[in-house]
Amino acid sequence: MAKAENNTELMEKIVSLCKRRGFIFPGSEIYGGLANSFDYGPLGVELKNNIKNIWWKRFVHQRDDMVGLDAALIMNTKVWESSGHLKNFSDPLVECKKCHHRFRADKVEGKKCPDCKGELMEAKQFNLMLKTFLGPVEDAENAVYFRPETAQAMFVDFKNVLDTTSRKLPFGIAQIGKAFRNEITPGNFIFRTREFEQMEIEYFIKEQNWEETFEMWRKEMQSWMTDELGLDKKHIHELNVPDDELAHYSKKTIDFEYDYPFGKDEIYGLAYRTDFDLKNHFKEEPYQDAEAGEKLYPHVVEPTFGVDRSVLAVLCDAYVEEEERVVLKLKPSLAPYKVAVFPLLKNKPELVEKAKEVYKMLKKNFVVAWDERGNIGKRYYSQDEIGTPFCITIDFDTLEKDEVTIRDRDTMKQERVKVGDLLSFLNAKLA
Ligand code: GAP
Repeated sequence: MAKAENNTELMEKIVSLCKRRGFIFPGSEIYGGLANSFDYGPLGVELKNNIKNIWWKRFVHQRDDMVGLDAALIMNTKVWESSGHLKNFSDPLVECKKCHHRFRADKVEGKKCPDCKGELMEAKQFNLMLKTFLGPVEDAENAVYFRPETAQAMFVDFKNVLDTTSRKLPFGIAQIGKAFRNEITPGNFIFRTREFEQMEIEYFIKEQNWEETFEMWRKEMQSWMTDELGLDKKHIHELNVPDDELAHYSKKTIDFEYDYPFGKDEIYGLAYRTDFDLKNHFKEEPYQDAEAGEKLYPHVVEPTFGVDRSVLAVLCDAYVEEEERVVLKLKPSLAPYKVAVFPLLKNKPELVEKAKEVYKMLKKNFVVAWDERGNIGKRYYSQDEIGTPFCITIDFDTLEKDEVTIRDRDTMKQERVKVGDLLSFLNAKLA
């Protein structure tokens, strides 16, 4: 098998595998596509849901200091006035005087157009908010914006959450959902798109605790990337965002970066948002601290995780080309299928019947694939390419001894296991 010779080829191979095997399709493809829009296919949605579910379990269900939220995508325009997004949420844009291509000024070196070497105009601020209209009349009064971050609803609903959960500081609100930005230069597959998904936490604290809280979340984010996503520590970096590049709400931000095939770039962010947002939304109504009896505006540390960039980093890290095969060495918890079941021969009804029995039994507990095409070797490679950790073959011995062959994706070793022990075997291996 020809291996990728450089990073561009590697990226192309990952994109091609995603399409070929049903992880990620180009959006609206039969109509010529829609630039930089993507659809998660049958395997992609499983991978993405696994990431989101593990995140929710770890950061909401398994902690005592967190609650969840699922808010509307479109919010009252006053939210974006108060949050500063309508005024400040912009990127510097430059346009080429010759070919009129547009670029983000901070991503272009020098004054020449990267496409035609023409001269670039002076940079202008370009607001990234995605606008639409609610109701039949498209006028200024009906203009609304899709949220550019999930964060704001967690501030706007802060009081509702307090009133209904009787939480005390420190505590956090978590949300997973779509966000929209009219990006100037989307690209690099699902790395930068105009519609994407975020998993965000707004963690409310007293001001004096911000540094220790920031450190606690820095470690949590590192552990999430290595222990839950299985990313190689060597591929993860931290960047202290310089003061003059901080978002309008932030006093300190760390960007976590990942070594994608197209270069090192942001995967997640951790920001200290001070009391900026709550103060702007609850001007007259500070939080009443039960213990101290004082009124105050809680400060906020915000760990934010891009779902699509998580998927991309996981795919890039797991993609391995060996002599004869391509393997996605996904952590079993992330793999779309946990196990595949094959009858040795598809034209032997007794084998097919027994294999179906095993398949149905396992399906009650795991997401299971079925394959009866081609020979066993081809079926193994086909499952390797989509990251299925185990393949089970039902052969003639199964009919006599009630044993199956289990083949391990990573070691390619095979062992015999009693059908009655299959569930406990897989539960132990997939835990
Ligand atoms: N609430 C803070 C916030 O939104 P951000 O750094 O602008 O901070 C957070 O975005 C995360 O969302 C990023 O670290 C990235 O993972 C993801 N993200 C941002 N813009 C994106 C885009 N255009 N396409 C895909 N993911 C994006």
